[in-house]
Amino acid sequence: MRMTVIGTGYLGATHAACMAELRHEVLGVDVDEAKIEALQNGRVPFYEPGLPEVLERNIASRRLRFTTNYEEAAQFANVHFIGVGTPQQRGSYAADTRYVEAVIDSLVPHLEGEHLILGKSTVPVGTAAALQERADKLAQPGTTVEIAWNPEFLREGYAVKDTIEPDRIVLGVQAGSNAEAIAREVYATPLANNTPFIVTDLQTAELVKVSANAFLATKISFINAVSEVCEIVGADVTQLADAIGHDDRIGRKFLGAGLGFGGGCLPKDIRAFMARAGEVGADQALTFLREVDAINMRRRQRVIDLSREVLGSLIGKRITVLGAAFKPNSDDVRDSPALAVAGQLSLAGAAVRVYDPQGMDNARKVFPTLDYAASLEDALTGAELVILATEWDEFKQMDPVHAAELVEKQVLIDGRNVLPVEQWQQAGWELHALGRSLG
Ligand code: UGA
Repeated sequence: MRMTVIGTGYLGATHAACMAELRHEVLGVDVDEAKIEALQNGRVPFYEPGLPEVLERNIASRRLRFTTNYEEAAQFANVHFIGVGTPQQRGSYAADTRYVEAVIDSLVPHLEGEHLILGKSTVPVGTAAALQERADKLAQPGTTVEIAWNPEFLREGYAVKDTIEPDRIVLGVQAGSNAEAIAREVYATPLANNTPFIVTDLQTAELVKVSANAFLATKISFINAVSEVCEIVGADVTQLADAIGHDDRIGRKFLGAGLGFGGGCLPKDIRAFMARAGEVGADQALTFLREVDAINMRRRQRVIDLSREVLGSLIGKRITVLGAAFKPNSDDVRDSPALAVAGQLSLAGAAVRVYDPQGMDNARKVFPTLDYAASLEDALTGAELVILATEWDEFKQMDPVHAAELVEKQVLIDGRNVLPVEQWQQAGWELHALGRSLG
């Protein structure tokens, strides 16, 4: 099958490469010439394990190409995916849908015949219907353009696997549509492996996506709220999470207490969901997400406060923050809890060094004033306090004995509750964590 994928960021580039991997002929489209040139030359402009290999393989087999030309895209295929971003609007909680609208404006006037546009971007409920109206106005006489919504659930760090073997496929369609038959062809391989396929109306599909992310964010903030209580009464949030997680109605996943969630999706999606609920008149329905957001932000502040408690004063203190990416196996620093902590400590007068296995270039762009270490060893050297802020394997597997030889003071805050406490304590470390008193 031939298809275009418009927008080649984390979502679009992965989708384009993985659709080619599923034996489709794919044209990736973006307005960013530098990005397109990199992709066309087999270079992924961000860190995503496994994606470079899939990209190279499919460019070599000629099933995958990239262009900045919308006319070419219009002629190449009758099925088009939209994977552009919907960031938070400046000065508001709402999502900015201007890039999805721009795709319709740029593509639809060039289309001839029958076309299906499948939106993958995370959008406020009602966007797909509005885009259909927009497309109808722009379509040439005799051309039909149908909009359907096919939300994406991939996680950064596991993007290739999540796209090729999704845990479910959701498709929102309008009455009388034949989008389902086309989607069945697109996703023939995962469907043959019994992947659940749920066909809904447009607005349900849009809501499925934001509801899933809002639920995940709520689960993380739930355990982090309990963590606040644990800190006061001297309980252990990790044991508590293990214990409640054995109830399979609850489940242990996403009960990782610590510095909380960040990234380009969860924070902005809960805000956009709240904003949209207000706009459609369900004012009270999602106000609890404000609390979810606030609990999440308080965890970052807790690490700052804990650092001050441990060090007495922050001014001039050499603090090493391990992690800059919002989570391991990613170089994405958007709304990263690690960088937020590093930035705040620096603004409070500490001498902050940051090290991340992949996120350094992006971190430097956001916080050029922080000191960036060349390696983990370099980062640890001379530190008076170490904060583990992103749970990369390289940090989890650190040797506490060797680390002790490098630092000035053996004091560490485990912001993700991932280190083997006894081993570190035996090596002479004073360990602090969120939601646990380690004594
Ligand atoms: C999230 C969703 O998990 C995907 O299903 C969705 O497709 C994606 O957003 C999206 O909307 O595009 P992602 O942003 O890649 O994926 O990251 P997650 O793995 O969900 O992690 C989000 C944040 O929560 C990270 O900062 C992570 O450190 C934090 N987290 C996760 C915790 O603090 N505790 C946990 O137990 C789990």
